[in-house]
Amino acid sequence: MIEYRVFLVEKTADGTIQRSVRRRPLGKLAAGNVRVEVEFSALNYKDALAATGNPGVARTLPLVPGIDAVGRIIEGGDEALPNGSLVMIAHPDFGTSRDGGYARYTDVPRDWLFAVPTPLTSLEAITLGTAGFTAAQCAEALLKYGTQPDSGEIVVTGATGGVGIFAVMYLRKLGFSVVASTGKLERTGELERLGAARVVSRQEVSDDSPRPLLSARWGGAVDTVGGKTLSSILRSTKPHCTVTACGLVGGNELHLTVYPFILRGISLVGIDSALIEPMVRRELWAKMAGPWRLDNVESLATVITLDELTDAIQTIMRGQVFGRTVVRLL
Ligand SMILES: NC(=O)c1ccc[n+]([C@@H]2O[C@H](COP(=O)([O-])OP(=O)(O)OC[C@H]3O[C@@H](n4cnc5c(N)ncnc54)[C@H](OP(=O)(O)O)[C@@H]3O)[C@@H](O)[C@H]2O)c1
Repeated sequence: MIEYRVFLVEKTADGTIQRSVRRRPLGKLAAGNVRVEVEFSALNYKDALAATGNPGVARTLPLVPGIDAVGRIIEGGDEALPNGSLVMIAHPDFGTSRDGGYARYTDVPRDWLFAVPTPLTSLEAITLGTAGFTAAQCAEALLKYGTQPDSGEIVVTGATGGVGIFAVMYLRKLGFSVVASTGKLERTGELERLGAARVVSRQEVSDDSPRPLLSARWGGAVDTVGGKTLSSILRSTKPHCTVTACGLVGGNELHLTVYPFILRGISLVGIDSALIEPMVRRELWAKMAGPWRLDNVESLATVITLDELTDAIQTIMRGQVFGRTVVRLL
């Protein structure tokens, strides 16, 4: 009998959340499913929430987290995606309502998979993963709402995080002047090398005053932080410019008046990477593998094993990550 390793999150009898690496027997593949031998998964902020038992993310326990996975189909392939195909798994239930990528093998419905677009390597695809895809969605939304390089500086918050770093890189590639906001000013040099025109501290983009409008300085924004940061950015964005909101590391509330919208015509665009039509997802990935392809993506990955995940989860929850943490399963 083949056994494989998984990273399991479960609730003990006294209600404590426990994380451990376990062995599981490899069972029979259920009809309609495809079996993937996972090469890499990744650690997103959402995975850390799942691994700490956050009920809004871990909708069932015990659970194998991991919302991203790249690997090869080893059983259940079809004509379009035969066994041996390099695929990525993306579905809102993966790693939340059903076991995710922190396992050597995973069985998923066929429509949760898509082929990793050439010429991306497996490490490049997983390093981008949900973070890169979300950042690309933010960049696309800014373009769609008419943001141009001459709109002014685009601020990216949480810039050293997974989404933030790729937002800086995509926006730079698209010709924008990017201001990276970070709690890690010691990373200024790296952020500048990745494309930031300048780097500012978190405090500089966040305003405690209750003023309904602040001095208008941003030509657009990619906000991954939420809370007070998003409120400050919306109040300090130039007339008729656009802000995308995808994250909540700094808080899930938004205190605001309607003045940024009715006096400055600001557009606030919500970004959701999970509930996306498969065709739309494939098209954006094709762009990320084609005209938007970034250089040296793999160098942003810190590759770890399942045994190192518990420490890495604490690091991401403390906001101390730079770039992407990738979990090697093979
Ligand atoms: N809507 C979607 O579909 C979608 C998809 C992906 C991610 N997200 C969300 O986007 C956010 C970022 O995700 P991620 O995977 O990039 O996370 P991440 O890698 O952990 O990065 C988050 C970054 O935010 C900053 N940060 C952390 N704690 C903070 C705090 N208390 N106040 C202000 N800034 C703080 C840090 O960057 P600095 O030190 O540089 O400031 C940190 O590196 C998360 O809320 C995640 O759930 C949403």
